[in-house]
Amino acid sequence: MNLHRRKRSARYVGPDTHAIITGGSSGIGLATARQLARRGARVSLIARTKSGLDRAAAELESHGATVVTAAVDVSDRIAVDGAVAELVSRQGVCDVLVTAAGITHPGYFRELADEPFREVMDTNYFGTLWPIRSVVPSMIERGNGRVIGISSIIGMYGTFGYTAVSPAKFAIRGLFESLRDELTPYGVHVGYICPPDVDTPHFAYEQPLLPDEYKEFASAMAVLPPERVATAVVRSIERRKTRMVLGTANRVAVATFGLIPSALHWYVDRVVRKVRRRRHHHRRRKAAGRATQQV
Ligand SMILES: NC(=O)c1ccc[n+]([C@@H]2O[C@H](COP(=O)([O-])OP(=O)(O)OC[C@H]3O[C@@H](n4cnc5c(N)ncnc54)[C@H](OP(=O)(O)O)[C@@H]3O)[C@@H](O)[C@H]2O)c1
Repeated sequence: MNLHRRKRSARYVGPDTHAIITGGSSGIGLATARQLARRGARVSLIARTKSGLDRAAAELESHGATVVTAAVDVSDRIAVDGAVAELVSRQGVCDVLVTAAGITHPGYFRELADEPFREVMDTNYFGTLWPIRSVVPSMIERGNGRVIGISSIIGMYGTFGYTAVSPAKFAIRGLFESLRDELTPYGVHVGYICPPDVDTPHFAYEQPLLPDEYKEFASAMAVLPPERVATAVVRSIERRKTRMVLGTANRVAVATFGLIPSALHWYVDRVVRKVRRRRHHHRRRKAAGRATQQV
């Protein structure tokens, strides 16, 4: 057997695979659905909005994919169970689950209402947990399956402006790390991806809400296309990677700040001081301009 054929036959995802993707109508979820469908998998997409799901399904079907959709809120445990049962009855047992449904709401802690804290946790954390609870018993029984979650670089360290979002991403990481150890003996692979900013509607929604301090902090980080995250998801599935932090600079930062947490705070404090100084000078220049106009 030549190397090329051996490599191909080692693939996990193929025409016998049924992949369920939450958040599959947009951004990272949709990019992942495209890549899995390109490998021949039957894909099932979960999101709340039917029109978005229909658009995504039509696009995937136009490239020959077999697609079924379910319009449910992932934070609703009972609805998720029902949707997964329906998708399994139509497309077969779930071999791959990718949990990419998520929302965001950055802003200064003192200015945020209470709701985003609850909503983000409900959607991002419980909306990750419930689909996993729905598919894992069957994976354990079959001794086979892949569960891949989307955390974030802000799940690796607390991040200025993300007090409502970072905790949910930490929670996802905690869930996947714990679950990985429990499910590995059953032949079920569990992995999670930590991307930096990704160019999706989620990212566009954040822009007007982001504090200047975060923008300054993030200015050195590249914004990734969603396809880059989807490639990491496929890699985690195929090569059983547990944690994938995307971007070399981010991997270095995670390693450094993990070893020396005070280095992160030292760096962020410098950034915050710089932004506050800039804001102060800006206000003074404006006040001086107004005073000159009055004279
Ligand atoms: N974009 C980034 O910069 C970035 C960076 C790091 C991590 N992430 C994470 O990556 C994941 C995907 O984000 P994205 O950037 O691809 O966002 P996106 O393009 O806005 O897509 C979000 C998807 O989740 C679905 N969704 C949202 N709330 C839902 C709910 N309650 N129930 C069911 N489906 C729901 C949306 O559809 P409906 O609205 O129709 O429900 C949509 O399909 C999120 O967990 C996000 O935190 C994103």
